[in-house]
Amino acid sequence: MTDGPKVERQVTFNELRTFVAVATQLSFSVAAQDLGLTQPSVSYQVKELESALGVALLDRAGKRVTLTEAGRVLHDYARRILNLLDEATLAMERLRGMERGTLRVGASTTVGIYVIPAALGAFKRLHPDLAVSLKIGNRQQLAEQVLSGAIDLAVYSDPARDPELAVSPFMDDELVLVVPADHALAGRHRLRLADLQTESFLTRELGSGTREAVEALARSAGVQLAVAMELGSNSAIKQAVKGGLGVAVISRHALSLELARGDLVELDVAGFPIRRQWSIVHLRRRLLPAAVEGFVEHLRAGT
Ligand code: PGA
Repeated sequence: MTDGPKVERQVTFNELRTFVAVATQLSFSVAAQDLGLTQPSVSYQVKELESALGVALLDRAGKRVTLTEAGRVLHDYARRILNLLDEATLAMERLRGMERGTLRVGASTTVGIYVIPAALGAFKRLHPDLAVSLKIGNRQQLAEQVLSGAIDLAVYSDPARDPELAVSPFMDDELVLVVPADHALAGRHRLRLADLQTESFLTRELGSGTREAVEALARSAGVQLAVAMELGSNSAIKQAVKGGLGVAVISRHALSLELARGDLVELDVAGFPIRRQWSIVHLRRRLLPAAVEGFVEHLRAGT
């Protein structure tokens, strides 16, 4: 049996992870932030790695950090090693099954409040020991959280294309224009958006998919809507419309009670309902954790 190459001591996975963060960011401070470590500890780990391998990996001349030739070669190997380690960990997790796993879901406001909790509840009843969490955010935050691994999957509309993200359709949604039951336009047919130009519109916060869809429709109809107030939730908007503060566009999924009771009335306006689709978004990887794969199947089966 021959000895392996002579290194002073074994290289650790932590050192490789730290090196990859520095080599990717080309910054000790940004890498430290990403890893949740202090900058001196990041520098120390890279120095240890260099001394273990007997090569300089980074050129620290001047303000900028650059990779040496050895650094470039190791960066490629280190990424492959760490990917394989992640895959091995995942394979073990899948063998343990989903019962002791965790499931961290994210969703945009409307689907996250009106659709996902029931789906998560049903899934949790099937797998009572699974630790489940749900984060509500806007679409950009959700994409970032999926990419960083802070959540396992997210549900939102119209995801931006990203080669690292796998996207599959989940559920159709309709955005409808609603007014209070006693509004002058209630019950009128075949209205145009221009007929509502003098109405006070209540709009969702910046970053909301509903808001973007309404703005896009108004732009394409060449209509300037009078926005009277911005409110950060569907519930606040529904209360404000009921209170006579204005009209609004809201997902049908958020309106079942109000429409059934007749508190709010859907208007018949050209271009409405605006149709959109919620998608399931997760990291594109060969294996998904068992709980994530199970929940994705559960969501798809329910539509
Ligand atoms: P929202 O949802 O309309 O509640 O902001 C965002 C989306 O997924 O479109």
